[in-house]
Amino acid sequence: MTGRVPGRVTGRVRATVLISGRGSNMVALLRAASDPAFPADIVAVVSNNPDAPGLALARGAGVEALAIDSKPFGRDRAAHEAAIHAVLAARGVGLVCLAGYMRLLTPFLVGAWAGRMMNIHPSLLPAFPGLDTHARALAAGVKLHGCTVHWVTDAMDAGPILAQAAVPVLPDDTEESLAARVLAQEHVLYPGALAAAAGRAAEAAEGTAFLRNPCLDGVSGATLTLPYANLR
Ligand code: GRF
Repeated sequence: MTGRVPGRVTGRVRATVLISGRGSNMVALLRAASDPAFPADIVAVVSNNPDAPGLALARGAGVEALAIDSKPFGRDRAAHEAAIHAVLAARGVGLVCLAGYMRLLTPFLVGAWAGRMMNIHPSLLPAFPGLDTHARALAAGVKLHGCTVHWVTDAMDAGPILAQAAVPVLPDDTEESLAARVLAQEHVLYPGALAAAAGRAAEAAEGTAFLRNPCLDGVSGATLTLPYANLR
């Protein structure tokens, strides 16, 4: 008798989400984490932008939501990051998820959270790092586009890749239609990647699930086994 509840994770990792805007990926992470079998608990949401609509969404979900406005810090990015770091450290956070966090990070925060901070980017990295990824994908004529969850390092949008999802680019796509197709995948991919990272950090849940890449269905070896039973 181990006392473990089947399908339930012991020692959920305390995670936080950093946002700057609407927060749809944050909502996807909160929804996933509301399942007791999910191996991470989102203990706080932090925004550098006090007007970020995502803050109200987090509060509505009963999660602590804090604005740490970057404006009073002016050009002193390190001081702003020190304030964020203090909040995360005080809450015993083990993993940090950047989700539409629009400030470039300094080596201070990246170093403090090395191997514990991930980001979602709306392209199949290493293609199209930076901004305007959907317009650039259309201009380049690529036939596959998508999103990437990666560990954050000093090089922008270039850290080790945790997970990717690909979508087709259709002949009549606009920037908006392509963005919407990618965003739908982001909302599946990010919870899956967080579960994978948290599952390794904590104790693996019972059973496994597969992170589906919609373009690779049926291709041998194209799925990532995750220590989380209810992902599909
Ligand atoms: C997403 O497309 C994400 O990939 C990028 O910023 C956007 C944030 O959207 N980093 P939301 O705030 O999660 O809705």
